[in-house]
Amino acid sequence: MRPKVTVIGAGHVGECTAMYLAEKNICDITIIDIVEDMPKGKGLDLCQAGPVHGYETVITGSNDFADIKGSDIVVHTAGLPRKPGMSREDLITSNADIIGAVSKDIKKYAPKAMVIMVANPLDIMTYHCWKITGFENHRVFGQAGVLDSIRFRTFVAWELGVSVADVQAMVLGGHGDTMVPLPRYTTVSGIPITELLPEDKIQAISDRTRVGGGEIVKLLKTGSAYYAPAAATTEMVDSVIRDRKRVMPCSVYLTGQYGVKDLYIGVPIVIGKDGVEKILEIKLNDEELKSLQHSAETYKETLKIIGY
Ligand code: LAC
Repeated sequence: MRPKVTVIGAGHVGECTAMYLAEKNICDITIIDIVEDMPKGKGLDLCQAGPVHGYETVITGSNDFADIKGSDIVVHTAGLPRKPGMSREDLITSNADIIGAVSKDIKKYAPKAMVIMVANPLDIMTYHCWKITGFENHRVFGQAGVLDSIRFRTFVAWELGVSVADVQAMVLGGHGDTMVPLPRYTTVSGIPITELLPEDKIQAISDRTRVGGGEIVKLLKTGSAYYAPAAATTEMVDSVIRDRKRVMPCSVYLTGQYGVKDLYIGVPIVIGKDGVEKILEIKLNDEELKSLQHSAETYKETLKIIGY
């Protein structure tokens, strides 16, 4: 039997995640949304792209949260997106209600599932979901660092005129404007970018990455990014299903690593069949560590808004 992945939310991020995942041909997919019949239409449409793209993935749409049942992985994308001028944190109360309700259903219908959170404010919603489900923290984690890192990789590649495939990057911290791009750990085929780009260019690329989501919100005007967020999420699901042990920055529960406790925040992990299989504690210099801890501090404060 193929693993079952349930995608909660059939908005742009949800539908694109289902699409990229379908193309990998590694699982069957259920898309759940409250809008009547719409997820069924998207599921059917995606199935019918299979003959061209060469996948047998069965994509089913549903309006019934009971269909979470049997999921190996639940990807939560439902929630309001940002509008121009909003920060991710502005979404906190509306999305906390949605995530709270869905988390109860996940616990009820798929108590053994792994949950990958994608809704914003990401690190806060991941914490919220973890609290409500009561699942072990290795199977509740959030997508964000991969997205921030692929944005950084894209900008570095453009700046150097090289293939994006040869650029590796690490962006840590919360998925907000306090995120921490790490130029020292960003390389082009093994060469640190600090050897290839002047300080001011690196700074400009880091700054653009930090507000990379907002740049797209400003352009789209009615919502936020979805292709890259969905691609990033698909990478994580793939690493779990195929137990690839990919090393990626993800929002995970910290118990003192990097001097941060009782908080979800982005750090490098090994991701495989058990979800968060290992948290990598890399050496950070004083400035990098301070930035990461500052980022964490702001999230501690934000968590208080929803009563933690
Ligand atoms: C972004 C939003 C989706 O970074 O968080 O694009």
